[in-house]
Amino acid sequence: MPDVTSPTPAISLFPEVRRHTVSRYLYSHFAEHIGRCVYEGIWVGDNPKIESYDGIRKDVVESLKDVALPALRWPGGCFADSYHWMDGVGPREKRPRRHNLWWNQPEPNSFGTDEFMRFAAMIGTDPYFCLNVGSGTVEEACSWVEYCNSTQNCAMATLRKENGHPDPYQVKFWGVGNENWGCGGNMRPDYYADLYRRYATYLRGLVGPEGRLIACGSYSNIPDWDERFFANLKGGNCLHLVDYIALHNYSGQGRSELEFTEEEYYSLLGQIEVTEKAITRACGLAQAYSTFGHRIGVFLDEWGTWWKEATTANGVYQQNTMQDALFAATCFHLFHTYGEWLYMTNMAQTMNVLQALILTRGPEMTVTPTYHVYEMFKPHRDAALIAVTTANMPHVKLSDGAEREAISVSATAAPDGNELFISLLNLDLKNSYDLSLGVPHAEGWKVARARVLGGGDIHDHNTFEEPQKVLPVDFQAGEGSLPLSLKLPVGSITTVELTRQA
Ligand code: AHR
Repeated sequence: MPDVTSPTPAISLFPEVRRHTVSRYLYSHFAEHIGRCVYEGIWVGDNPKIESYDGIRKDVVESLKDVALPALRWPGGCFADSYHWMDGVGPREKRPRRHNLWWNQPEPNSFGTDEFMRFAAMIGTDPYFCLNVGSGTVEEACSWVEYCNSTQNCAMATLRKENGHPDPYQVKFWGVGNENWGCGGNMRPDYYADLYRRYATYLRGLVGPEGRLIACGSYSNIPDWDERFFANLKGGNCLHLVDYIALHNYSGQGRSELEFTEEEYYSLLGQIEVTEKAITRACGLAQAYSTFGHRIGVFLDEWGTWWKEATTANGVYQQNTMQDALFAATCFHLFHTYGEWLYMTNMAQTMNVLQALILTRGPEMTVTPTYHVYEMFKPHRDAALIAVTTANMPHVKLSDGAEREAISVSATAAPDGNELFISLLNLDLKNSYDLSLGVPHAEGWKVARARVLGGGDIHDHNTFEEPQKVLPVDFQAGEGSLPLSLKLPVGSITTVELTRQA
């Protein structure tokens, strides 16, 4: 328990001081042909034991509708640079079976472009396709864009129509390769930059004015990749060919999904600094290489926890506890602060792989604590980040002796200005805190809804036997008027919605 003499932590909100809009795309996701993410996680074909919408898993679709992912990156990952999209269109019985090289599993190609687009429409997400640069060609990449988007009387649009899709899909986001410094071809930055220039020269016109081209950026251990990429493009007057640079960053490697100590949890929080440094650096570069006519931004294309249990041998599957949920929520608070420079983040991966939202076991399904963070934080999307001041904040020690505030807060105002949404994380595993929350310069705010996730053991997680162990719970927040006294349980995520009469 905290020292009873400690002054109460206090948070003041200033809705009139708006910083920037929180891009809804920060809450996007990533689904690769790896393990049981696509096959079983999305596509069940004619398996009589699993209910589906013509092959697409029903329970997963219904659960993903509730989190309304703004964009979904597909088909990889490392898989993308070995994927030939023509293998995955046309009559399914004629599609070739291939060896999924990176993840050492068969690839039946039953789930291809048209199936993905049907799935994306069902769950209401924007498609984000990653093109094959590592083992593909410019022609293959261009023909995929034509297949998806062309309205002209040309071979690829005709093929799409013959496959039952008369209207173009209008895919906006196109990644030009994945991890091309590694599984995407082991390239040097200048070699990739030269290839990028060639691909993007032809893609730019095809994707049209609304289309966005995303370059492969660095992982935090190869920091000069981004600098050298941008310098190369600038040298060739080609900066207009890149809209976003995409980073990858995983956390927690070498640690266990369930068997972890409190010290390991705090050290995971400490690792967020690595992600922060990588994003800050990339945003600085994007800013430096942007011009008045052409702004470049940053994606965090892959992120999340990667525990030691997730190996190629087990399909990169891992469990997901309240630790993962607190990690995700803390990262989202960080992502909110970058404004328009950080435009999209895609956690890896949606089903059954790494920090998944959904786990399946044959016909059974459960959502994870991380899923609940995506669902609870929905009001932050496209809202304005507002100024917040804090007082009397307690601290927790991270593993390297560094400290951080034990309570993390992020507050946004809806576009009409009559709704505020506040997420509050108690990162402390020993102490719950009483907190005062107020809007000092305004009257009339009332609590519309308050919810809490967690507050028990940090190891808590959902299983097929107990699928609702970790679930957000609504609670009555004081008398409902401000300033509000709130109790933040240990290791918990609280959200408060405030409304005001117009
Ligand atoms: O998400 C799993 C893998 O991690 C992706 O395929 C790759 O891009 C990254 O190394």
